[in-house]
Amino acid sequence: DIRAGVLGTGSSVPEKVLSNTDLEQMVETSNDWIVTRTGIEERRIANYGESTSDYATLACRRALESAGVSADEVDLIVCATVTPDMMFPATACLIQHKLGANRAAAFDMSAACSGFIYALSLSSAFIESGRYKKVLVVAGDLLSRITNYEDRSTCILFGDGAGAVLLGPVKGDKGFLAFDLGADGSGADFLLQPAGGSSIPATLESVEKGLHYLQMSGQETFKFAVKAMVSSTERVLETAGIDIKDIDLLIPHQANIRIIDAARRRFGLNEGKVMVTLHKYGNTSSSSMAIALDEAVREGRVKAGDLLVIVGFGGGLTWGSTALRL
Ligand code: ACO
Repeated sequence: DIRAGVLGTGSSVPEKVLSNTDLEQMVETSNDWIVTRTGIEERRIANYGESTSDYATLACRRALESAGVSADEVDLIVCATVTPDMMFPATACLIQHKLGANRAAAFDMSAACSGFIYALSLSSAFIESGRYKKVLVVAGDLLSRITNYEDRSTCILFGDGAGAVLLGPVKGDKGFLAFDLGADGSGADFLLQPAGGSSIPATLESVEKGLHYLQMSGQETFKFAVKAMVSSTERVLETAGIDIKDIDLLIPHQANIRIIDAARRRFGLNEGKVMVTLHKYGNTSSSSMAIALDEAVREGRVKAGDLLVIVGFGGGLTWGSTALRL
């Protein structure tokens, strides 16, 4: 049996910082409100002229470097994003070209903030079937591009960035032990970007109405998020046959510290066992988990052989989790 695992990780975030104090100048809010309600202190924002593929490509380069694998060895690139460079061609194709990954097939996947987990699940299946040996999974989003900086209930939350992992066959007890994926389209209206697709095309009128901006029902999303994180984690642990006490690090989607803490307390985990980056980067959609994984590896929070659970939730509604031995 072939099992897929992580061969390397990488990430990339813009240099430009948007702090809570900056936001105080833009909308009616305060540093205190943002920190107590969300845990976010600052986020990174890409310059005009930059795009998702720029950050995603850099994250992929770093993942390849850390694995000691060259771009022309990559068989497939899967990019999880809700802010592609454009509707088509796929951002993964632009990344493929920038990387010089000449042999690789490439496509995008849309599962909002759960996209990284969905892409890991799909890509590990490609490896476990024997079809591919080296798959780059990259989650990249510039949420600033679809954020309304006049809407204080959303603009304080989001940031830009990308994270990548190189997957390949691994030996011994390493690799992905289980996945749990789910969706509930009845909640599609809780979190969406209404315009720009076939239902409401991007026209002057839709832009004037602000329909090209991300819209969110914060409280509904919050309630769903806590439930989804807890139940998905429970299912993935059960499938993998492991106990929450056995895991070395939980890497949750970085949306709100109160969501993370609610889940953490439910599992009886201490703070040291949960990766948090949202104070620095805000919510970067599904990149948040990929960036957090890369930072956990680079900071030595996790090492080869450690047991991790990565769990996310988001628009769709969607959720997903995986148990992974590094
Ligand atoms: N500054 C000051 N006041 C604010 C701000 C702000 N930035 N935003 C909202 N308020 C006000 C509201 O207007 C409201 O005032 P009112 O009581 O006079 O009406 C009050 O604060 C409370 O608002 P709530 O919406 O009840 O605040 P809540 O505690 O629910 O926090 C938040 C809002 C942070 C959005 C929270 O609901 C949340 O985090 N939800 C989940 C969001 C999430 O996880 N999204 C991502 C999921 S998927 C993805 O990543 C894309």
